Amino acid sequence: MIEQQIKAAIRDIPDFPKPGIVFKDITTILKDHALCESIVNAFIERLGNKQIDAVAGIESRGFLFGLTLANQLGVPFVPIRKAGKLPYSVKQKKYDLEYGSAVIEMHTDAFEPGAHILLHDDLLATGGTVMAASELIHDMGGHVCGFTFIVELGFLGGREKIVPVSDEVIALAV
Ligand code: PRP
Ligand code: ADE
Repeated sequence: MIEQQIKAAIRDIPDFPKPGIVFKDITTILKDHALCESIVNAFIERLGNKQIDAVAGIESRGFLFGLTLANQLGVPFVPIRKAGKLPYSVKQKKYDLEYGSAVIEMHTDAFEPGAHILLHDDLLATGGTVMAASELIHDMGGHVCGFTFIVELGFLGGREKIVPVSDEVIALAV
């Protein structure tokens, strides 16, 4: 039900941002407040009573639902940002994604060592972005206890890449 609603709401944009890429535009989901609420509720239901000490979300689309999810779970939100945006001391990782490469950063005091961190992003493609985020979290003494995505592009093999980090991979529309 939620999977069909998400698929119906997403807009496919061919050849963006590069020829050959079919871009999944989720701004069309954001227009539907009831669907946005259902997405967060679906994550919460599927997570059950798993220990989660904080939710980390990746700039920029990972911020859209990541903060609401953290608020609903009653835990802190950790922003993982593109390089040069966070003002305090940071650790960083470079990575490749479906249509380019980037560098992400996290504040060094984002969570306590040993914290169970749920990693959230809007979309799983190659898995390069969340793998880099997982490595950052690991380097800072955190434990990635699961992943949540609204959409998974299964043909790019991201799931196989991230399952060794945590087999709790929740994707609402595959
Ligand atoms: C998109 C998306 C994910 C990532 C997925 O972000 O929001 O973060 O790509 O790709 P991957 O699984 O191949 O790594 P993008 O870097 O385009 O930034 P944005 O969220 O600011 O649009
Ligand atoms: N991030 C990586 N690949 C993507 C795609 N095809 N659509 C939207 N976001 C993406």
